[in-house]
Amino acid sequence: MKITVTPGFKEAHRDDVAYLFWEAFQGKLAPSLGTSEKALRFIAQGLRQDFAFSAQDDHGTLLGAAGIKTQKGGFLTGSYSDIAAIYGPISAVWRSAVLEMFERKLTPTVLQMDGIFVAEGARGLGVGTKLLDAVVWTARMNRCTQVTLDVVEENTRARALYERYGFRETGRVKAGLMAPLMGFKEATTMALDVS
Ligand SMILES: CC(C)(COP(=O)(O)OP(=O)(O)OC[C@H]1O[C@@H](n2cnc3c(N)ncnc32)[C@H](O)[C@@H]1OP(=O)(O)O)[C@@H](O)C(=O)NCCC(=O)NCCS
Repeated sequence: MKITVTPGFKEAHRDDVAYLFWEAFQGKLAPSLGTSEKALRFIAQGLRQDFAFSAQDDHGTLLGAAGIKTQKGGFLTGSYSDIAAIYGPISAVWRSAVLEMFERKLTPTVLQMDGIFVAEGARGLGVGTKLLDAVVWTARMNRCTQVTLDVVEENTRARALYERYGFRETGRVKAGLMAPLMGFKEATTMALDVS
């Protein structure tokens, strides 16, 4: 199978990308984004082409996607009003506050990987590695010196992929009392020098 990675994703694939995103991060995002129906609506409308890469096979079938975040923006955006439009103005207050807690401080030389996911049937074929190649290439093109990411403790497969790629642990984030809202107890921060 030929795997092609391109910047962005086809508009026709927006709902599929949102579905894979939700499937990958449901554990982390369910407390803030609620039921799948609302979460998928919020994610589909907030995904940005200009901070994404997608992988397709030779028939144009979506295999997976990865997102990036820089000081200019990120893969999934959502203002208070976007959240309020789906969840109502009152719960949008705390939902925005929880989503804000996932934000990391970025400098101009750091590119954060803002999510990577591959359709279940296409895993183990090198799609994730190719998406990582595109993320790292973009970091170099933007004169960034480091790519960073977060991975939750239980996700040993993703962590193995990152380690094999050369990412090293740089710290740990404990959610503590916020764990029920943040959807994870502990996450590892990893970084790869790309200069
Ligand atoms: C983590 C994830 C993105 C990895 O994607 P992937 O496409 O399976 O990654 P790769 O194929 O590049 O590498 C993973 C495995 O395939 C193997 N592999 C890589 N290229 C291969 C090839 N050409 N042929 C066969 N196997 C290959 C790797 O050795 C690796 O093996 P292992 O995981 O069994 O140890 C994917 O498992 C996923 O979407 N998981 C759910 C979402 C998620 O957890 N995202 C990360 C959040 S931090």
